[in-house]
Amino acid sequence: MLEEVPILKKEIEEKLSLITDSKGLEAFRLEYLVKKGKVQVLFDRMKEAPKDQKPILGKELNILRKFVENAFAELKEKFESAEAVQPTIDLTLPGRTSSIGSAHPVYQTMDQMINIFTEMGFSIAEGPDVEDDAHNFDALNFPPDHPARDMQDTFFIKNGENLLLRTHTSPVQIRVMQGMKPPIRSIMPGRVYRNESINARSLAEFHQIEGLYIDKNVSFAELKATMMVFAKKMYGENSKFRFRPSFFPFTEPSAEMDITCFLCGGKGCRVCKQSGWLEIVGCGMVHPNVLRNGGIDPSVYSGYAFGFGIERVSLLKTGVDDIRLLYENDTRFLNQF
Ligand code: PHE
Repeated sequence: MLEEVPILKKEIEEKLSLITDSKGLEAFRLEYLVKKGKVQVLFDRMKEAPKDQKPILGKELNILRKFVENAFAELKEKFESAEAVQPTIDLTLPGRTSSIGSAHPVYQTMDQMINIFTEMGFSIAEGPDVEDDAHNFDALNFPPDHPARDMQDTFFIKNGENLLLRTHTSPVQIRVMQGMKPPIRSIMPGRVYRNESINARSLAEFHQIEGLYIDKNVSFAELKATMMVFAKKMYGENSKFRFRPSFFPFTEPSAEMDITCFLCGGKGCRVCKQSGWLEIVGCGMVHPNVLRNGGIDPSVYSGYAFGFGIERVSLLKTGVDDIRLLYENDTRFLNQF
């Protein structure tokens, strides 16, 4: 039996040299190191050995067991550390960059406009998108039979309940006047809604920036100067613009300002309806009835108001010729701005 020990040791050494991974090592453990493994079996058979051989046999077997256990532990550690590092990092792969979003072109334009007006001393106010008839129309001096109240233009929330989606940001003028004393210098950005067919020039949901300036002795010349300073800051010193007389129930006198059409440079095209000009803002001196409805005495105070369509301003700035492109959410389009 004593001669079996070196034979088993040789067998074990050969097996060890063939192990390449932890799977092979596990098979080795099951063959030699468990209770019914080949090493233990020799221990169990020790009782068959002649008495005088037993001490030396015991010693040799113990040496063999230590050898197997050490070899097993060494390989185990080697495989574990190799397998832990290997699959997690491949330094040859290109890095993953996190993609950063950016502001929508309409909001970029809105931010630019807000910056220009806040530099001039205007503060920002906001009102609700769902308005009542009183703020959206009545208080703004719309006669009861004004065509803008027609179902075709206004989205009513519920028939007979006087709630609607505001058709312009002008109702915020009333809320601002009711909430503070003159002097007032406010701009009011926000979303507005109109029951209109959608085409290259108009949308059913878009954005406006309202402006309101109220103090003693405010003149139309100040309104005009403010609009001109804005246009130059927004479109450059050499931009061309013009004022036209217009009508709004809530301002008197009223005007509109046009900028040279970006697409045709003023020659006339489909975007500017062949006129060479694009309207970007409606404005005028606040009507005395509106001041009164806002709780301000028109015999003491006067003021001007204006309302920009932000999408229009944005188209002029970016050179995009179809307003619908702004809201298709095609990132190839949006990434250009
Ligand atoms: N509310 C008007 C519109 O939506 C614009 C406007 C605002 C005109 C303020 C005059 C004064 O067309």
